[in-house]
Amino acid sequence: MRPKPRKAKKSPISLDQSATRAQPSSSSSRPPVVSHRVTQSTIARFHTLLKQQARLKRKLECHGVHDGEREVQSVHSSLLAVEREMQQLGGLHAYQLASKLGQSRERGGDSSKILLGWLEEMGVRSTATGAGAKLRMLEIGALTPLNYASCSKWIENHPIDLNSQHPDIVQQDFFERPLPPGSTEAFDIISCSLVLNFVSTPTERGT
Ligand SMILES: C[S@@+](CC[C@H](N)C(=O)[O-])C[C@H]1O[C@@H](n2cnc3c(N)ncnc32)[C@H](O)[C@@H]1O
Repeated sequence: MRPKPRKAKKSPISLDQSATRAQPSSSSSRPPVVSHRVTQSTIARFHTLLKQQARLKRKLECHGVHDGEREVQSVHSSLLAVEREMQQLGGLHAYQLASKLGQSRERGGDSSKILLGWLEEMGVRSTATGAGAKLRMLEIGALTPLNYASCSKWIENHPIDLNSQHPDIVQQDFFERPLPPGSTEAFDIISCSLVLNFVSTPTERGT
């Protein structure tokens, strides 16, 4: 019998140059074209690795005297392997790039469309514009500061992100953000779209 050909081990897909298709020169300002499969698998793999990283870190924090040196060592090595794979994928930057490509116009746009639709349906927009008031919004996990730019007459947006991609996005961890000191600084709207997948513990996800 002929031996079965061995399956090649899959290596992590990274969002490097090889994953992007060249654009014609007339469209050089457009984002690079990356297949939906590549962006989806980068995002999904990143979420899995974040959860593994958090679980291993918790294990290390909580290890007791009964845990042998060998066990602790093995958790350390697993953590290193997880972090190495995150780096190979391109780190948080690649994750954000994949998310940005996922919200391109060709793929249905970003989630502000949905939120604005809800605000319209609920009559929030007409009430605000009728009163000439601006609603204060906190956008958590903003990849661009422009998602609500077209509504600047009635929404005053404050975008934040763990890893800001633009000077108008405040680099901040939501969990470290101080509470608003008074009602004037409080927010009328909080957008937290596609951020919870990133948050690794159920307690922090509020579940
Ligand atoms: C999938 S992207 C979100 C995309 C965008 N909000 C949308 O709806 O398409 C998730 C973003 O959340 C950010 N993020 C995750 N945890 C965060 C936290 N604790 N505070 C601020 N930003 C956070 C990440 O850095 C990442 O840029």
